[in-house]
Amino acid sequence: ATQATASLNSCEPSSLSGEEYADVDWNNLGFGLMPSDYMYTMKCSDYENFEQGKLSRYGNIEMSPSAGVLNYGQGLFEGTKVYRRAEGGLFLFRPEQNAMRMQIGAERMCMPAPSVEQFVDAVKHTALANRRWIPPPGKGSLYIRPLLMGSGPILGLGPAPEYTFLIYASPVGNYFKEGTAPLNLYVEDEFFRSSHGGVGGVKSITNYAPVLKAQGRARSRGFSDVLYLNSVDKRNLEEASSCNIFIVKDGVISTPIQNGSILEGITRKSIIDIARDLGYQVEERSIPVDDLMDADEVFCSGTAVGVAPVGSITYQNKSVQYKMDAELVSRRLSSTLTGIYRGSVEDKWGWVVEI
Ligand code: COI
Repeated sequence: ATQATASLNSCEPSSLSGEEYADVDWNNLGFGLMPSDYMYTMKCSDYENFEQGKLSRYGNIEMSPSAGVLNYGQGLFEGTKVYRRAEGGLFLFRPEQNAMRMQIGAERMCMPAPSVEQFVDAVKHTALANRRWIPPPGKGSLYIRPLLMGSGPILGLGPAPEYTFLIYASPVGNYFKEGTAPLNLYVEDEFFRSSHGGVGGVKSITNYAPVLKAQGRARSRGFSDVLYLNSVDKRNLEEASSCNIFIVKDGVISTPIQNGSILEGITRKSIIDIARDLGYQVEERSIPVDDLMDADEVFCSGTAVGVAPVGSITYQNKSVQYKMDAELVSRRLSSTLTGIYRGSVEDKWGWVVEI
């Protein structure tokens, strides 16, 4: 535990031992919202400084109907997870990366952002206040959802006069209903996720509702998710609705190069480091959809999704199936990554943060 515990305000729940758990069916966690006890709020009214944050009971928030976020979509979100280890202890994974990504996104969306220290401290407070909702080791994690939004009223188009940083948390298991089974992805060639010069490279809330139509259409046809193409060349891969994409061909791992329209996934960059460390050649490059169809193996990565193997891809009228043997590169990368979370693999980069 850290100093964060000592500075928890009066809303801190009564002291809990690590073994006390909320009444949850831990064996059947999916990615549905299961609100935990407390949320954390911090406001900024001068475009620069955030006031002291505070914990309060999780619940509805009050906002002006003319809030910038409601009218003009001035908002960002983040996602990070807290894990409980078998030998005890609660751990975050690279939370400062989420803080820095929020700062970059805030700059793009004309919002002030919490400092890295404020962000990480707030995440720790939220995790500790909700510790009975952190699943037992191996059963999942507590997903922490930080939001940054223009909460002040504005009518003419412009940056809102007040900002709210808010964090809530929910225990989660597998993201996809497929569980850990391979995903079947549909390559979308009518709708695009982001545009050149747009905000696809940051975690703007405005990147997500526009994918719902393509996602819904693909799901109704039995696909797990949608893979998007670059809106300019309509040929190179970008990412899926909620995660990044990797392909493997002849032992070489490739992932779409960051071009401003692909999200800088924290799992994506961690996987690249792990793969290189394990001796794989990793290329960040433009990946034509033909390379995808010709790959030996395909997998997705993301905080919510983890590392998920892809079993098939459908593009236009063609489908390809990938081999699902025991030697999957994604399996090796995934077990190294989860080993780092769980403490069974050396954390040589200092990625895990005990709270
Ligand atoms: C995450 O991986 O944390 C995300 O933000 C994706 C989200 C669509 C669930």
